[in-house]
Amino acid sequence: MPVMAPLFTIQDGFTYEVTRKIAEGGMGIVYEAAQLGARGFRKRVALKTIRERFARQKMFMDNFIGEAKLVADLIHTNIVQTYHLGEADGLCFITMEYINGVNLEQFRRQLESKGRQLPKEMAVFIASRIARGLAYAHAKRGPDGKPLGIVHRDVNPKNVMIAFEGDVKLTDFGVAKARGYLTDREGEVAVGKPAYMSPEQADFRVTDKRSDLFSTGVVLLELLLGHNPFRGGSSEESRRNVIEKPLPPFQAMDPRIDDDLARILAKALERDPLRRYQSADDLRDDLEWNIYHKGLGPTNETLGRYMRELFGQIPPEAINGARGSTKLLENTARTRAGRRGRGSRGLSAA
Ligand SMILES: Nc1ncnc2c1ncn2[C@@H]1O[C@H](COP(=O)(O)OP(=O)(O)O)[C@@H](O)[C@H]1O
Ligand SMILES: [Mg+2]
Repeated sequence: MPVMAPLFTIQDGFTYEVTRKIAEGGMGIVYEAAQLGARGFRKRVALKTIRERFARQKMFMDNFIGEAKLVADLIHTNIVQTYHLGEADGLCFITMEYINGVNLEQFRRQLESKGRQLPKEMAVFIASRIARGLAYAHAKRGPDGKPLGIVHRDVNPKNVMIAFEGDVKLTDFGVAKARGYLTDREGEVAVGKPAYMSPEQADFRVTDKRSDLFSTGVVLLELLLGHNPFRGGSSEESRRNVIEKPLPPFQAMDPRIDDDLARILAKALERDPLRRYQSADDLRDDLEWNIYHKGLGPTNETLGRYMRELFGQIPPEAINGARGSTKLLENTARTRAGRRGRGSRGLSAA
């Protein structure tokens, strides 16, 4: 499809001040950086570089760049937004929206270190937001109007971030697809997270969007149980578990899992893609029904509050021992009402 002729062109270079290393993974390094603009403008961004080992592989780079272009227009509140694909000294990097928060693995470890269990509603809320982001990405169409057929292929706790404001964001799209490419073409390369793979993916078969739904199911199960029952002692064992280990009796392991949620989990974790959820929309709808059908369930605000309390940005007293999100909301509402009440008394006395 021909690109529309521009009205006019503006040329400007970007300068980044890299300030902090956030994470170092197998494929690349993620930094916090400031994007500098004209006249003292600064914008905080995350900047991801690719390890030289991978950057030297033409096939990998082609795919990395191709996928960066693909995700450029993925704009959704539950997906980390890509800003720019840059190149300096022959090395490519991606800049993206900076998330002030933690990934789900860090989140789970924090819960563990405090000996706490994530409220069931919040676990479901987080999974529903992952499903929202996936539904959007899966349905995304290219400029020619044809579906892009995006499959994340690497939905796992490290690729899901929670901001201290409570937003849930799926990340690592571009690389995930490039990674999938490597896995497909070179079965020898051990990449991806076997304990979160769908059975078809673990078996090196062709994957489609339904694969991401299985992975989302595993992430949800781990958030509820506090551990991933498919994780084995080695990648090979995890892969085998995903393919053939019977599902654990999760309702017996966690009585908070109601019948409705158990049904959702079982359907997301169906090994046969034909019997699984067929779309992220359906999974999202079921998860949202589970938390919202009785009334007010968790929101970004309640998760944000929970996050800030868990990481010590709000003293626990301020939360008033509320465990469920609904209680948190009620407390917030009451505090507000109380304040308003006192305020008006003050006014009338004046
Ligand atoms: N936009 C971002 N803002 C803040 N931290 C991020 C961002 N993207 C990634 N991270 C952090 O860096 C880690 C690795 O990023 P990711 O894109 O998954 O790279 P990798 O290819 O190494 O897995 C994430 O788990 C998260 O902790
Ligand atoms: Mg990652």
